[in-house]
Amino acid sequence: MLPDEVVTLYRRAKRVAAFTGAGISEESGIPTFRGDSGLWVKYPPEKFASVTGLLRMFITQPDRVVDFAIDFYRMPLMAEPNPAHYALAEMERTGKLIAVITQNVDNLHQRAGSKNVLELHGNMYRLRCMRCGKHRYMAKDEIEGMLNRLQQAKGSRIRILRVVTGIFKRCECGGRYRVDMVFFGEPLPQDVLFEAERIVQEVDLLFVIGTSGVVYPAASLPYIAKDAGTKIIEINPVASAVTQIADHFLQGKAGEILPKFLHV
Ligand code: OAD
Repeated sequence: MLPDEVVTLYRRAKRVAAFTGAGISEESGIPTFRGDSGLWVKYPPEKFASVTGLLRMFITQPDRVVDFAIDFYRMPLMAEPNPAHYALAEMERTGKLIAVITQNVDNLHQRAGSKNVLELHGNMYRLRCMRCGKHRYMAKDEIEGMLNRLQQAKGSRIRILRVVTGIFKRCECGGRYRVDMVFFGEPLPQDVLFEAERIVQEVDLLFVIGTSGVVYPAASLPYIAKDAGTKIIEINPVASAVTQIADHFLQGKAGEILPKFLHV
């Protein structure tokens, strides 16, 4: 049961947005970054989360970089949207929710049917030309093929490099593609960030779902919302950096709590 004040707040809100992190995909089988079996526990972010860190690792331990790429993509590739993703898509369909602002790159909001998804950290299926900015989407099979080739190339830096240059082919303009994800130390897409900042100030209610709230600038969005008078409902099994400014903290799993809002 949702607390009465939460039900009243949700019913009264005319415009709602959601800010999501890795926790919303946890019930789809994708480990969070900072959880016990998280990617950043096995692969320290100071070595694996930045482009320079990865290049350095590639020089000294190329097979570890291959292992990281395989572990990064494997679970999201197999994942399906869960009831939390579907609940947000349904809220949008009924006209209550105007946007999902996500830090996730797994594409699960879109696959659940959400239309207005602002991706702050990019998308794991998308490549971007570094010269002209053109996008190219990779199919699931294409990524699986790439991971298989990388696995087979282990033990030889040259072979790994050949696979990588095969993936990041040249664009028509002559530029080279790269993955369209934000690495540590890189700027977020400014138009997406500005739009997210505008939305969290404009809505009456912001759901903050499944994020530790420690990675900036994305983590500033709940504070920007709070300053603008937007009410915040946080959903997370454990308290996060956002909990102290949340108007309501609903402790638990997103897939169990969010669908309840569809029946109030
Ligand atoms: P984290 O791994 O830091 O935090 C995940 C949060 O989800 C934690 O607070 C968990 O308690 C919570 N959680 C776990 N299971 C949940 C569930 N079933 N329902 C709801 N919440 C649950 O992930 P993010 O906050 O998304 O950035 O991390 C932010 C950024 O750090 C990521 O986008 C990524 C990472 O480095 C980049 O790669 C640029």
